[in-house]
Amino acid sequence: MPLVTSKEMLQAALEGHFAVGAFNANNMEQVQGIVDAAVEERSPVILQVSQGAIRYAGLEFAAAMVKTAAAEADVPVVLHLDHGTDFDQNVRCLRAGFTSLMFDGSKRPFEENVAITSQVVHIAHVCGIPVEAELGCVLQSTDGVTYEEVCDAMTKPGEAKEFVERTGCDSLAVAIGSVHAMREAEAELNIELLKEIHQMVKIPLVLHGSSGVKEESEVEAIQYGIAKINVATMLNQAFTRALKEAIAADPENVDPRKFLIKSRDAVKEVVRHKMRLFGSSGQVTASGYKSPKTVHRTAKIGGAEE
Ligand code: G3H
Ligand code: ZN
Repeated sequence: MPLVTSKEMLQAALEGHFAVGAFNANNMEQVQGIVDAAVEERSPVILQVSQGAIRYAGLEFAAAMVKTAAAEADVPVVLHLDHGTDFDQNVRCLRAGFTSLMFDGSKRPFEENVAITSQVVHIAHVCGIPVEAELGCVLQSTDGVTYEEVCDAMTKPGEAKEFVERTGCDSLAVAIGSVHAMREAEAELNIELLKEIHQMVKIPLVLHGSSGVKEESEVEAIQYGIAKINVATMLNQAFTRALKEAIAADPENVDPRKFLIKSRDAVKEVVRHKMRLFGSSGQVTASGYKSPKTVHRTAKIGGAEE
């Protein structure tokens, strides 16, 4: 089916107390693994591309991969810009057919974040496309952050209320204790802070940096307004681990498909696990999509000429 926007999808998640996984993709195997899991799990899904992914694959190519995968799928798929840090990037993605945008002004002063987010919201809404914004800052583990720095960067509930009212953004990424790109799930979210934000801000809230968060904490957060959960590092780990194992198991092979099929399957299984954890599995049935099916992409990989 054609791409859908994240507006109704996240509202349904908020009201239904589940979260939609937003999975980062950089290449064809990741896109296919994510969408195949969604089809089999009867789950709505968000595929998101970061600015790094756009630099890697090219904007039109990245968008075309997701659009093609969505067209083949019979579950709703959203194409989302992840962490677009300037106005121009958002406009380019709007033009390329993205059905959900993010303006990330979290490193800018409050007033500047309000001003640019408002501009992005204005132009996106003219085209019927929703916008995620970020207030507070989900830091990067690669920057070697301390616990105090994570706490200092957390979202302030009063500011969040004012920010949402002034910008008109459709969803809000909140900093509640997660850190981007952690390789182990060790962090616990500040659920009391999340409850306060959720009481003051009625739009869907977004959890970034989920690879480093304990699963119990993620599940609890879904009960207090988290309706979108971003997953990236964990997918890259699964992809790369499977690739290394496949190469080690068959070092003489030169056909990359025999290795990459393992990576695609590994991504699919992590996504499936997360969809079940987030409660999005089976949600599409309620919206009228029926008959679960299995995706069989590659039964056999033949010789180099195939
Ligand atoms: O925007 C993407 C994410 O917040 C993913 O975070 O790499 O820690 O899973 P992660
Ligand atoms: Zn993020």
